[in-house]
Amino acid sequence: MLVKEIKELRSLIKAWKREGFTVGFVPTMGSLHEGHESLIKKAVSENDKVVVSVFVNPTQFGPNEDYDSYPRDIDKDLTLCMNAGASVVFNPISKEMYFDNKSTGVSVSGLTSVLCGAKRPGHFDGVCLVVSKFLNIVTPDKAYFGQKDAQQVAVIKRMVRDLNIDVEIVTCPIIREEDGLAKSSRNIYLSDEERKAALVLSRSLSLARKEIKNREKSVGKIRNIIKKEITKEPLAKIDYVEIVDSESLENVENIEKSVLVAIAVFIGKIRLIDNFIF
Ligand code: PAF
Repeated sequence: MLVKEIKELRSLIKAWKREGFTVGFVPTMGSLHEGHESLIKKAVSENDKVVVSVFVNPTQFGPNEDYDSYPRDIDKDLTLCMNAGASVVFNPISKEMYFDNKSTGVSVSGLTSVLCGAKRPGHFDGVCLVVSKFLNIVTPDKAYFGQKDAQQVAVIKRMVRDLNIDVEIVTCPIIREEDGLAKSSRNIYLSDEERKAALVLSRSLSLARKEIKNREKSVGKIRNIIKKEITKEPLAKIDYVEIVDSESLENVENIEKSVLVAIAVFIGKIRLIDNFIF
């Protein structure tokens, strides 16, 4: 079922809650793939009702980013959601989500000034604003996010904690193509040659994981291994290679406790991200 109006969604959810149903929520920007499908299926397995939002959120794109060209296909998305067992697809229009004279923002400091936050100023303010609005509208028991956007998960968890939002954030593993490329809505932009070159992301991370498993503790050494591998690929340009504390996202010099190894790499013009937590 497709719902476009906030009012309609709210009354549906109120009716569910009166019946005692639990509600799971999967926020997306559409152009859904198996990664999103796995989040929806997980939500369906853990809740009575599941709402999937499909909304290309303008406030999280920078002026030179791909908001206008971001892939949109609501019919295909609706079919995927319904087949995966979702109860409702919420596809609001921008005007209903954002008032022309809106004057409220949501911003999480510290965690957002590193990794993707450092490279995409204002991005996480947009993410936090839209996710807090959705959590207010949907009031879910649980909300599902993919580990592929590791920083987003850390930032949303912090926001939910700091604002006492009554929701459990569930993180789901990265879904990969058979050859290792992390699934992403942006993969469709890659030419055949770039698609092959993009494997350098997962390949370099596998090398790093092997080294850490072999008890290499130096962050500098691991970072160099990743950089060396990526540099071998002529179509790749490193945006960042970082190894940080997996919760605070603060820099570490040695691997003593749980770390996030995160990379962002341009393949041609397409910026791809990948990561693992060790
Ligand atoms: O991860 C995404 O697709 C987006 O950042 C989200 C969480 C749907 C907010 O627009």
